[in-house]
Amino acid sequence: PYLNSPISQDCETPQLNPVMEPLSWMLGTWLSDPPGDGTFPTMKPFQYLEEVHISHVGQPMLNFSFNAFHPDTRKPMHRECGFIRLKPDTNKVAFISAQNTGLVEVEEGEVNGQELSIASHSIARISFAKKPHVEQITRKFRLNSDGKLEQTVSMATTTQPMTQHLHITYKKV
Ligand code: HEM
Repeated sequence: PYLNSPISQDCETPQLNPVMEPLSWMLGTWLSDPPGDGTFPTMKPFQYLEEVHISHVGQPMLNFSFNAFHPDTRKPMHRECGFIRLKPDTNKVAFISAQNTGLVEVEEGEVNGQELSIASHSIARISFAKKPHVEQITRKFRLNSDGKLEQTVSMATTTQPMTQHLHITYKKV
């Protein structure tokens, strides 16, 4: 069984869709190690824990969830989930994410080897989203030679130019 779902429980574990092979290095369950670093000119630096699941069900896309927690209280913080798609026969990637803050975004970019660089293409938010609003997002994911996954997120808001907000490395569990 691959989905813990009544409908799919009799289904064989599917093979990775060949279209997704260039992103196979992202697959797995990952835990922050060490805790992530949050920064931005407007805020006191902070740390966070994060649990990441990147999986597939045989479709030509990956499914992801990123769940952040407070390092001391372990209370849930930022959460996002979505899909990663690859344009077949190219290195063009689309990253589609819904965030618990009321933000929905599409990022696009490229995978080159074990590095994925993407930038926001469109951002939508709920009418009562907290200010300041984010206007642009860029992310970089990389599989390091020690087998750890690394993510760096930068953003521009209505009050600040593009600046790093998050940097984190994860070990596979
Ligand atoms: C603040 C965006 C991910 C923790 C903010 C702010 C924005 C933002 C626009 C307000 C900045 C300001 O006041 O000038 C985003 C976006 C994310 C993201 C677009 C993902 C792409 C995360 C993650 C964490 C996090 C993973 C981990 C816990 C915080 C904290 C603050 C903050 C603690 C300051 C307090 C607050 O405003 O809630 N973020 N964030 N963010 N973010 Fe993020």
